[in-house]
Amino acid sequence: MNAVVLVGGFGTRLRPLTLTVPKQMLPVAGATMLERVVAHLGAHGVDRAVLALGYRPDVFLDAFPDGRCAGIELVYAVEPEPLDTGGAVGFAAREAGIDDTFIVVNGDVLTDLDVTELVARHRATGAEGTIALTPVDDPSRYGVVPIDADGRVTAFIEKPPAHEAPSKWINAGTYVLEPSVLDRIESGRRVSIEREVFPAMVADGTLFALERTGRWVDAGTPETLIEAALAHLDGSAGREDAIAADATVDPTARVESSWVGPGATVASGAVVEGSLVLAGARIGEGAVVRDSVVGAAATVGARATLDELTVVGHDVTIEPGAVLRAARVPSEAE
Ligand code: GDD
Ligand code: MG
Repeated sequence: MNAVVLVGGFGTRLRPLTLTVPKQMLPVAGATMLERVVAHLGAHGVDRAVLALGYRPDVFLDAFPDGRCAGIELVYAVEPEPLDTGGAVGFAAREAGIDDTFIVVNGDVLTDLDVTELVARHRATGAEGTIALTPVDDPSRYGVVPIDADGRVTAFIEKPPAHEAPSKWINAGTYVLEPSVLDRIESGRRVSIEREVFPAMVADGTLFALERTGRWVDAGTPETLIEAALAHLDGSAGREDAIAADATVDPTARVESSWVGPGATVASGAVVEGSLVLAGARIGEGAVVRDSVVGAAATVGARATLDELTVVGHDVTIEPGAVLRAARVPSEAE
């Protein structure tokens, strides 16, 4: 079974971390987002993952030089220009010569979805496409997908205005598609699968969906990247993986509900809470890092405070005593 993994977006909501590292190559507690996504697909019978690449393809190629990830064969499909989600699926599937039922996933979604069940349901209904749905409190950030009693999709509404969503069930970013869907995607131009392809399939009555609860996070924002890492530590991994084996945490420092990456250091009296400290970062004496992300090899000066989803870019230095709330360093303007 082939899977197209969409990993070509700019990851704007995670800047500045994504200025150099594509979103799916950021760590989610010890392994990259992409490794976790591909390993999950592998556990459900996928043996070839076609990476739909656009932004910074070099980082992916360098990370998997033997063309394998989590034991699965990779195919690299590099778009000449951003083609949007539908255009990317069309381009990648054609590059890889896909001509049979295939899976598509958004490469930033971490889930324990039973993909095997989704494929079985797809085959049983004879659908052209089957989408996994998950319930959320605020559907306005997502694709909202009402269905009828048979599981047939009755509308696909991408990012509706707040309070106008007809359902709490949203597109969970995993699809099973027939190759005929590719005929609906014109090549060489931007096509949104959510705004063009799925609505056309709804009109033809060929799109179905399966509502499933379970672990699900779109790790595309600082808040949800932290959530994904902590969920991983609370779930399969266990808290002993919260501090990487070769990280150094001073005995007088306090690290709670956080992940501290390989080679990172947390100095005496520092507090790290609800945060991610990426590889090689240094948290100075008495510094406080709360609900924030510190990029790889960044330095947080002594007694500095980071709070309220502050994001510090890779290699950045924060001056001693600085107080940052809901900040991005460097900021977009710099
Ligand atoms: N190759 C390629 N080219 N990939 C792209 C492009 C592109 O032009 N644009 C986006 N992607 C990739 C992103 O890297 C990401 O892995 C995936 O496509 C989805 O894009 P996001 O930017 O993360 O979309 P979203 O989170 O706002 O919304 C999507 O996901 C939600 C669930 O997490 C939509 O599919 C929603 O309908 C859905 O509910
Ligand atoms: Mg996303």
